[in-house]
Amino acid sequence: MEDFGSYLASAYTGAALTMLTSVGHNLGLFEAAAEGPATGAELAERTGLHERYVREWLGAMTTGRIFTYDPETRAYTLPAEHVRFLTGESAANAAPSAAMLRAFFGPLADLEDCFRNGGGIPHASFAPHFEAAGAVPGETWRRVYQDHLVDGFFAAVPGLNDRLKAGAALLDVGCGTGHAVNTAARAFPASTFHGLDQDPAAIARATSARTAPNARFSVADAAALPSEPRYDVITAFDAIHDQKSPEDVLHRIRGALSPDGLFLMVDAAFSSRLENNVGNPMAPLTYAISLLYCTTVSLAEGGAALGALWGTETALSLLSAAGFTRVEVAPSPRPQNCIYICTP
Ligand SMILES: C[S@@+](CC[C@H](N)C(=O)[O-])C[C@H]1O[C@@H](n2cnc3c(N)ncnc32)[C@H](O)[C@@H]1O
Repeated sequence: MEDFGSYLASAYTGAALTMLTSVGHNLGLFEAAAEGPATGAELAERTGLHERYVREWLGAMTTGRIFTYDPETRAYTLPAEHVRFLTGESAANAAPSAAMLRAFFGPLADLEDCFRNGGGIPHASFAPHFEAAGAVPGETWRRVYQDHLVDGFFAAVPGLNDRLKAGAALLDVGCGTGHAVNTAARAFPASTFHGLDQDPAAIARATSARTAPNARFSVADAAALPSEPRYDVITAFDAIHDQKSPEDVLHRIRGALSPDGLFLMVDAAFSSRLENNVGNPMAPLTYAISLLYCTTVSLAEGGAALGALWGTETALSLLSAAGFTRVEVAPSPRPQNCIYICTP
């Protein structure tokens, strides 16, 4: 009982530190602390924030083992080994995800209503919560694509990077803010890249971040994807399980591939069976995100609500039903994902 009590306290502590991490990220406290040890007053001065708030935040951060504290000098330090996880442009920076988590918890009262009355919270309703939480949609994945798209996800498919170097047509389904398309278009000027999403706000962001002429974006429903034009490569990054009709979308994707085309699906690496996910340290957080976002946005459209932990068993069976005869599951550079390499 005592063990469970302290386990629960540490779980609550984790939740609190997550929210305070989002505060530190939004207010530039980590970047300022990365400049070197500072007293509370110095860190407040570096950031232009009120010292009393900064000091209390540092109290939580220090006892929460994110900062260290020297009582002699009264200086707080963000240790060098922590800096890359809380600052900067690499995919290792987990701070933007804290802001995203805070946004997912924004409409919690509405979610409780959904428990009582059914239905769901539509994707569009999250926009004000992203804004209030300081979460920039696509920020985490932008960093992931920058570090891992070409050398990780694409490199997992033998010959894919060569094919893209030579010139191929690629479609990204559920492209969101378009960072995969924009990153790939810059890397492979001989290929063309098309990003499709049903969210006009995401497509507007994708279009304004476009820097390469071989990238284009459109607002469209993936469940109505036509069979022409055909694409050599279709990708879906974390974009199938929260669809209203994932089965229809997979059929449409299969139908829009050229005969020697391939579908690359990056999704969460879990089992479809809860019992197989017990003990996976990423499972509770992923179930939570699935409940707070993936499941409810699909239910809002009267959809299948597969959830983020639809799992490899269900994914393989839906891919086979959609007409993919060969599917290989490859490990991803991010352990929480896996890569489905699907050929017709
Ligand atoms: C979790 S996000 C992933 C976004 C993106 N792949 C990325 O890497 O950031 C899922 C995306 O699928 C889009 N989506 C959901 N249903 C769709 C549909 N039927 N047609 C097109 N896009 C859809 C959503 O608008 C959302 O942008």
